[in-house]
Parts: sequence; C-alpha cells; structure tokens
Amino acid sequence: MIKVTIDGRDVELENPVTVLEAAKQAGIIIPTLCYFEGLTPFGGCRLCLVEVEKLPKLQTSCTLMTADGMVVRTETEQIKAARRSILEFLLINHPLDCPFCDKAGECDLQDLVARYGPEAGRFAEGKRRHPESFDDPIIVRNMERCVLCTRCVRMCNDLQASYSISVTGRGSHSFVEPFSGGKYNCEYCGNCLTVCPVGAIMSRLHRHTYRPWFVEKEIETVCGFCGVGCSMVLQMRENSIIRAIPRTEVGFNKGLLCVRGRFGYESIESEEQLTTPLMRVDGDLKQVSWEEAITFIARRLKEIKETFGGKAIGAVASGRCTNEDNYMLQKFIRFVIGSNNIDSSARNYYAPAETYLESIFGQGITANLISGIANSDGVLVVGGDPTAINPILGLQIRASWRGGGKVIALGVPGGLKRFVAYELMPTPYSEEIVLSAIVGRLLKGKTFSGENAVVEAKLRSLRMPSDEELSVTGISPEDIARASDDLAGMATPVVVIGPDIIQRERASKNLFLLGAIAYLINARIFLLSERPNYQGVMDMGCLPDFLPGGRPVELEMFRHKIEGALDLKAPSDKGLTFFEMINEAESGGLKALYVMGENPLFNIPDSARVKKALGNLDLLVVQDIHLTETAEIADVVLPATAWPEKEGTFTNLERRVQRVRKARRGKLASYGRDDWKIIADIAERFGMTKKYRRVEDVWEEIMHVSALHTGLGYEDIADGKAVWPYSGEPLRGMEGDFSVEGLEDLPRVQDSEKPYLMIEKPLYHSGTFSRRSSALLSIYPEPCLMINPLLSERLGLAEGERARISNKRGVLELKVKLNKDVPDGQVLLSNTFEGFGAMSLIGFSIDSAIGSLYIRDNSVRVEKVLV
Ligand code: SF4
Ligand code: SF4
Ligand code: SF4
Ligand code: FES
Repeated sequence: MIKVTIDGRDVELENPVTVLEAAKQAGIIIPTLCYFEGLTPFGGCRLCLVEVEKLPKLQTSCTLMTADGMVVRTETEQIKAARRSILEFLLINHPLDCPFCDKAGECDLQDLVARYGPEAGRFAEGKRRHPESFDDPIIVRNMERCVLCTRCVRMCNDLQASYSISVTGRGSHSFVEPFSGGKYNCEYCGNCLTVCPVGAIMSRLHRHTYRPWFVEKEIETVCGFCGVGCSMVLQMRENSIIRAIPRTEVGFNKGLLCVRGRFGYESIESEEQLTTPLMRVDGDLKQVSWEEAITFIARRLKEIKETFGGKAIGAVASGRCTNEDNYMLQKFIRFVIGSNNIDSSARNYYAPAETYLESIFGQGITANLISGIANSDGVLVVGGDPTAINPILGLQIRASWRGGGKVIALGVPGGLKRFVAYELMPTPYSEEIVLSAIVGRLLKGKTFSGENAVVEAKLRSLRMPSDEELSVTGISPEDIARASDDLAGMATPVVVIGPDIIQRERASKNLFLLGAIAYLINARIFLLSERPNYQGVMDMGCLPDFLPGGRPVELEMFRHKIEGALDLKAPSDKGLTFFEMINEAESGGLKALYVMGENPLFNIPDSARVKKALGNLDLLVVQDIHLTETAEIADVVLPATAWPEKEGTFTNLERRVQRVRKARRGKLASYGRDDWKIIADIAERFGMTKKYRRVEDVWEEIMHVSALHTGLGYEDIADGKAVWPYSGEPLRGMEGDFSVEGLEDLPRVQDSEKPYLMIEKPLYHSGTFSRRSSALLSIYPEPCLMINPLLSERLGLAEGERARISNKRGVLELKVKLNKDVPDGQVLLSNTFEGFGAMSLIGFSIDSAIGSLYIRDNSVRVEKVLV
C-alpha cells in the first residue's frame, strides 16, 4: 500500500499510479492540457505542475509516479504563477479568435486562461500565420490554434492505430498534418477531434451553425450502424442531430467511435425519409392515410389467410430494428397470423452460423466480451475485415497486437494489414482446405480432453489434405505449420469469424473447422455482425425454428409455455427461412410477405430473381424509413422511424442489451411511426386484445415470454451492463446434434479464367443506409471497381478509367480503382450505391446443412469501356 498526501488529504493506493491519477482518486482535479486518459503520457504542456516536498523543482503530475510518503501540493501561488506563464507563452501564437471559433464554450485553453490568466498578453510582435485548411471535406484544420499537445497524434497512433497524422516542422512553426497532405487519407474515425483541447481540428459538419451552449439536449444512446453497439451521445438542436460524440464514462468503446458512428447520422436526417404511407393504385405508389393503409393490409392479410392458410404469409424482420420491433413482428406473424415463416437478413450468415456453433458447443458460445480481445495474446481472423465490418472491435485486435499479441488473418487482412504476423492469402474458395490442414497440424500428437466427445469423434474422421492437395491453395505446408504452431502456443486466443467464410459452399464444414480450432486451442469465438441488432433479431424469435429466448418451436414444452403466457397459439412445425420464402414466392406457394426494415431486392444476390419472386406475391408490404428498391415494388409502403427516433433496445454481438433512446421527433404530423406500433395496430384489426401504450409494455412482455430475458428490466439495461448470461435461463443440453457436410472429403477448387466478383465491405458505408449521409459520401462518393494493378495491367485498365463488368445476370459500368491488396483473380465492388449493387451480378444457393446462403456463379468478364 502506498500512502501519499495531496493538498493535506491522505490517499492510500493499492498500486503505484501517477500523481495526477492519485489526486483524481482523492477528488482533486489538477488542470491538464496535453494529458488525455487512455493515451500515453506526453508531459509536454506542463500545465499539470505540482509541488512535491523534497523535490527542488515543480513536477509534471501526469508523468510523475507516486511514492510512499510523498507530500504534494497542487494549487500554490508558485504553481499558479507557473501556469499563468505557460498560458501566456501559448497565447503568443494562439489567435484570440474565440468569438469566431466553434470550440469556444468547450475549449480547455479558454477555460484555463479564464482561471489562471493572463488577463493581457505582453507579446506585441506578429503571431505565427497558417491558413486554415479546407482541403478535407470533413475535417477542417486551423493550425494557428494548435497548442501542440499531440493528443491527436497519440490518439491516431495509440488507440486508433491508424498512424495517419504527425507533427511536422520545427519550434513555433510546428503543426499537425496528415501524411497525405491537406486532405486526410485515413479512417476518419474523428477520434482526434474528440481529444483536441482547442479548435485546431474540427468537424466541418454544422460548422459555424451553433455554439456548444446552443445544444438543447444530449441523448445517451447506442450507435445503430453495426453490431458492436458503441455508446454515444447525440447532441440535438431544433430537432436535428448536430453532433454524435462518444460517451466516455459508459460503454466498452471507451470514448471511441468509428467513421460511421461519428459522421453517418445524416442518413437519418435525410430529406428522402418517407413521411406518408404509400399504396399502389393503378400501378403507381400513391400517398394514402395511415387508416387507409392499415385497413387495406389487415383486409388483404385476412383474405389470404382465409383462402390459403396462415402459412401462405411470411415476414422478414430486421437487424436495424429494435428488439421490441422484432418481437412484435414475430408475435404478429407467429401467434396472430399462425405462421412460423419469420426470418431476417441475419439468415445471410449470422443466424445460421450462431445456431450451428451453438449446436456444437451450447447456447452462448459466441457471447464473449469485446473488450477482452485487447487482453488476448493472439487472434485468428477468418472471413472478413473486422476493422471495416465492426471497426471498434477491430481496434481491440490492434490493441492485442500492441500488447504483444499475434494476429493471424486468413484472407485479405484489410485494416489489419500492418498488424498481421504474416499474410495467409489462399486462392479463392480454398479456405476449407487450409483450415483442414491447420486442424490436422493442431491434432498432431494431441490427446483429446474428452470435453466435447461429439466434436472429437468427428475430428477423428476429418479428411486432412496432403501436401499435394494443399498446393492448390497457394499456402505452403510451412505456412500451415507456422500458423498452427503459433495458434497452439497462444494462452488466451480469440477466433473472429466474418461473413465471407460462412457464405461459402459447405459452410457447415468451415464453421466446424473454425469451431474445432477454437476447441483445440481453447479460444473464445466472436461472430462479426453487420447490423446493430442481428443478435436481438434471433433472441426475439425472428427465426422460423426458434421462439423468443432461443427455444425450439417444435418442442412442445417450450411452445406451450409461451402460448400459455400469451394466451395465443403458434404453429408447431418450423417455418420457412428467408431464402425459402423467396423460393416459395417464386413458385407461388407464398402469397404475402411483410418486410420490415430490410431491402432484399438490393441485399440478396441475384436481384433479378428476387425481384421476380417478390413480384409474384399477392401482397408485398414494406415498412422502412426510405423508399428502398424493395419498397418501390411493394403494394403498400409504411414509413417507419429510424433508431434515433424511437425508444427500445438493441442486443450487440457480445449479447449486451442496451437502450436505444429517442433523440428526435417527426417534423410532420404524418411522419413515420415506430415499427412495433404499426404492427400492433394491424394485429389489433385481427382481434389481438392486448394493448400496448408504451414501448415499456412490449419489453415487459418480452421479459415474461423470453426465458433469456426474465427479470431483466429497463432499469437493469440502462447502465449498459446487461451482458449475457442475464438473470434469465440460457438453454442447455441442446448441443451435440449437428452434421458436417463433406467431413471426409475435400472440395474441388476450380480455376476461373474470369475474375471472381467479391463484395467489398467498406469502412465508410453501411450497406445502402449510409448512402444518404453526405459526410460518408464525401469520403467514398461513388461506386468503384477495386482491381489489383497486375490484373488491371493485363486488362489494359488504368486508375480512374471505366470498366464494364458483366455476366449472364447483367452489366455494370463503373470507375476503376487500383488496390494492390485485392488478390489477383478477384475484383471487388461494394453493395452500396443505387443501380450499382454487386449482388445483382452474383448467384446464390442455400446451404443444405445450415440454411445460410452461399455465393456462386460470381465470375465476371471485365473490359475497358472505350470512350
Ligand atoms: S480521423 Fe481518426 S484516423 Fe484520421 S487522423 Fe484522426 S484519429 Fe487518425
Ligand atoms: S491539433 Fe489539437 S490535439 Fe492536435 S496537437 Fe494541435 S491542439 Fe493538440
Ligand atoms: S463500431 Fe459499429 S457501433 Fe461502433 S461507432 Fe462504428 S458503426 Fe457504430
Ligand atoms: S498535462 Fe501534464 S504535462 Fe501536459
């Protein structure tokens, strides 16, 4: 125990900390400028000077460690005079433009000068001049205001690990600049803006439109752009979001956000947001009243149910909607309509992968704390770039690397490129062979623990590739040995699984192999989640085979329990998955589809086929915030509210249930309604007697019905600490019932003369949603085809030229962007921009073992467009 005295207060410390930290623990706040919690101490500004008995000079408290018996004073006349002098020096160059500066009102320098002085400067000579830089569309730099605290540089290096900016120049001519020059070429997380104590680097969004004290309210909520679920504050003025900033006290994101969370909010404020229900009349969508639209939907659904039965009706839930919205849709379709045809786009990869892994290892196998990744000593990443799909989770992997952890990525490492120990880039569609080889090597000389007898029995019959068979992968036996040995040597490893490895033929085998690796090296598994609430969609029972709480619908005891609680009946057999519903729509078996917050026409491969199938329906209802591609062909379109416009909860990928808060209200009387309210309204027309006045009523029912959420009230969720396992009961004893396709053979890897079209998952976009954010568009403004320079040379294509990509599904013409990280033999296109969806040129089939989609027929002819 270390005992120190600070300003006469005795402080007892378990571990040595800095004097600054010790003072904080004693409730004494020492002024700082270059210090920022979480960043490496710099000791540059000297504002935090303190007097320490027996030491001759004033000391910087942010770098000085406490020692037993230390006596410290933090506010003597000598210290105040020193601080005043330091501030006077800073003001030699810092312009006195507070009346004009957007930072005024929340500027550390302004506050310090107000407290310590000087009242007037003595420096009469001219100040340093540096023109404000507007080269970047999002970040404005005013280096005359920079106090060279280096917080931004340390943030970019230490926590974001982007290494994009540096201090350049000498002495008073030093300033901060991106390595790319005027315009930033970085990850645009904006975390440097959070830490800048003055107005030297600021967001250009809403520039000069408000002062910090104009903020009318601050809403603490969670980000709605991906399954990490970062805690954030939306600052509001006149019913508009003017800034999204991270919450510092709460949440595992510890004051960090990514580009989508920080700058993507404009997509919610878009002028294109739907405001009125639309109904197809004489072939065109016409504005109608809510009453008209709801009455029509209820009448048509009743007619279809009476004529064809409830099973002719299906619904698609949404990973963008809240738990409450999804629960209500599930209740309506399952318990009111009488159909288990309820699924969501989580079917693309997330839901089948999780269900399958749980069938091997038990419920909750992927429920692991994101913050724990930073402390692991090794990470295996397969199937996607975590720094783009779930950026703040990706930062945890970089943090593991900083702490000495080894990062191994199978496939394109993307934002982990600088952090991987070595690259393992298999030829397209050969990952299964590589994973089999890694498992084979891990098994060498290994004695099974007997912990999971089913896994071990299957591993005994797993076919391992010979060195010759491995050669088609482009990965050498030595690379396999090195990677496997590294994995085996890890004490606290993590396996991160992304969508791409699941959207492969024989997904069950890939997942089994990844699960086997995790089992053999005792790793925690993380499943990347592209949507904020994929997990909640599943937990709420938006699955054709599972009820709320993850209980199988076919098991009578579970079904009866929920039926009893609701006093309503559900069908006993499992329903159709998302893709089976499309097949049934195509063949005429499905007559009506209710789509909530999803855009299957754009987001599912083979768009033409999906369009034809949906066009076959007698009734297509789309409930969304924008007129999406799917909404455009619907019979009825219902305007819904976006996540900052409603109350509810999301469940993130580590299974943390968090509160979503309403920040803005509709501007018009006819503005969108909350998804759950719309559905409850329709259900009432079907005779559902239960009335829900508030969202709390819905959550209370969820607590009552879902065994996972029993006793988990909103008050328990409020502080963001409702992490799995909750007070409810996880389902145990259902594991061990799984099959693995192709366990005893290896896939044939076919050569393709034409490059494969793969889907780029850019950091700067979130599916089609983000294309309505002008900030995100200014970073990534248009569709472009990413090509390896080697391939582009063979094709005679140069950067910026237009390429035509085509196959039997269609043709797209778009700009070429060279990127040497794209494997030769592949081209990448994001599925973001209207009319340029990568999915339109890709075929798919349904995996027979786990029900996910796998991509096929995705090779394309690439040609130069001659102008
Ligand atoms: S926005 Fe993020 S990546 Fe870019 S310079 Fe700032 S901290 Fe670095
Ligand atoms: S730009 Fe801001 S954070 Fe960066 S060194 Fe200058 S004052 Fe500090
Ligand atoms: S990591 Fe995900 S949840 Fe966090 S700010 Fe980015 S998009 Fe939002
Ligand atoms: S805060 Fe301690 S030297 Fe700057």
